[in-house]
Amino acid sequence: MCGIVGILGKKAVAGDLVDALRRLEYRGYDSAGVATVEDGHLDRRRAEGKLKNLEIRLSNHPLQGRTGLGHTRWATHGKPVERNAHPHMNERVAVVHNGIIENFQELRGELSAKGHVFQTETDTETVLHLVSDYLDQGVAPVDAARAALQRLQGAFALAVIFAGEDNLMIGARQGPPLAIGHGEGEMYLGSDAIALAPFTDTITYLEDGDCAVLTREAAEIFAFDGRKVERPAIKSVASSLLVDKGNFRHFMAKEIHEQPEVISHTLGSFIDFAEGRVHLPDLGLDPAEISKISISACGTAYYAGIVGKYWLERYARVPVEIDVASEFRYREPPLEKGGLSVFITQSGETADTLATLRYCKAQGQRIASIVNVRTSTIARESDVILPTLAGPEIGVASTKAFTCQLSVLACLAIALGRARGAISEAQEKELTHALAEVPRHVSTLLHNEATYERLAHDLSKARDVLYLGRGSSFPLALEGALKLKEISYIHAEGYAAGELKHGPIALIDENVPVIVVAPADELFEKTVSNMQEVAARGGKIILLSDAAAERAGCALEAHIPVPTVHPFVNPLLYAVPVQLIAYHTAVFLGTDVDQPRNLAKSVTVE
Ligand code: G6P
Repeated sequence: MCGIVGILGKKAVAGDLVDALRRLEYRGYDSAGVATVEDGHLDRRRAEGKLKNLEIRLSNHPLQGRTGLGHTRWATHGKPVERNAHPHMNERVAVVHNGIIENFQELRGELSAKGHVFQTETDTETVLHLVSDYLDQGVAPVDAARAALQRLQGAFALAVIFAGEDNLMIGARQGPPLAIGHGEGEMYLGSDAIALAPFTDTITYLEDGDCAVLTREAAEIFAFDGRKVERPAIKSVASSLLVDKGNFRHFMAKEIHEQPEVISHTLGSFIDFAEGRVHLPDLGLDPAEISKISISACGTAYYAGIVGKYWLERYARVPVEIDVASEFRYREPPLEKGGLSVFITQSGETADTLATLRYCKAQGQRIASIVNVRTSTIARESDVILPTLAGPEIGVASTKAFTCQLSVLACLAIALGRARGAISEAQEKELTHALAEVPRHVSTLLHNEATYERLAHDLSKARDVLYLGRGSSFPLALEGALKLKEISYIHAEGYAAGELKHGPIALIDENVPVIVVAPADELFEKTVSNMQEVAARGGKIILLSDAAAERAGCALEAHIPVPTVHPFVNPLLYAVPVQLIAYHTAVFLGTDVDQPRNLAKSVTVE
């Protein structure tokens, strides 16, 4: 989390720093700040909250320096107040940081004992004092930064500038991403290539353990111990265009409405619809030999993975283990050599997913990633990538990335199913045909917004909402609850319908809406029994289904009709109403739909 940027420019850089921060705001928006070296002195402006507050501050009190750092924060240590906003600075050094310094307490104790006075509750401030301490001992700036890096434990991307040094910037990476941008007589640092895209397309990605020493003329990279290392400069394809909202009120609405197109692109990149065949890139192992697939992801991507498990087990007859990455990595599960590990991630930077990838790689697994940002760390560290073609997703709550992840997982299940002899050529045609119909049906589902507005009115009064589903609709119940809680702040839980009677039924009364995701598939009647149990206790049922309302056999608060399709593709369709329910409820409540409180789009800390 947090976005960092640095510029060694030819003119005053504050405006460009803010411009770059705007493209990094998806990484956090608790506060923002910039610092520059002006006439040899460091000066900074910071503001709590969104970037626009910093812009106002800068327009009233401009900064003129040509060397500067910028930061947009997602708070880890210390409240999201101006005092804790980056850059952290004293008279000699300014620092911006993304990540967590795990040994900060130990360092803080040691430095306090030496007389350093801490002004903030952040872990980052220890870096500032550590570098300053070396400077106080007469160590030169580059060596002081390097010495400090060797003392730090944890995950960090850092950028440092110094008073009296108008042509020097240090960048370091141990975990979260950091890229150098090479300009004409200018040099840049940024958390991603998109932040730097208006300035340059020549990018060098730092690797873990790299320390970059930048001037306007050159970028040299060293290991923390001082050994020189070489990293290639590549042409980035990141676009500088800040995607706009078009005619939509929010990015989330626009992204929900883009789904027919991006699902179609994603499916089209793997399926030959004329032949009815799926073509995957070479996975580098014989599909027939795969004894187990392990899937790891976080948040919405994890729920896509659960749908993937249902599909892969059913259609490819391969056992699948799935876990949230933050648990997987510390469980240290034994993995047979030659197995396939699949990672699902929109950003390609999620810290836990990346750490799990590295664990699986070390266990001899083949690494395949379903990833949206092709220049990301996870994309670069994978053996094979299965790209989602969702385009930039700006809304913090994932929507189109989710349905594109499902699209890729569906293709993977079919391709492995065929290669393993679990499905026939005719079945492959039937399933790809069902997928081909998805964009059209998703379009239909988007034309019913008045229903959701009415529903939002009722849901906005609820304190708790339950979502139920069975089979591949169970992860949709989980995703529905996640969407609702993250953007409307209404407490919501997703449950496997069969588990209702093992606990959540105790919550049911006339004030608890229960949203049931129940396509008329082979499990429908089972879910009907669970609906009856809810109805018997006065619960208000909102049914999402292609089945006629009468088939519920009980009174419904609302029925959202969904087209009847091949059961295989149901999760792709039911994703849309659960997104729209959350979206309209949040709009009704007036929350910040695109940037909900406390969340960030790219989670680069554990
Ligand atoms: C955050 C985002 C979610 C996302 C999750 C995983 O929590 O708010 O929308 O699903 O991270 O992110 P990834 O980039 O790995 O898909």
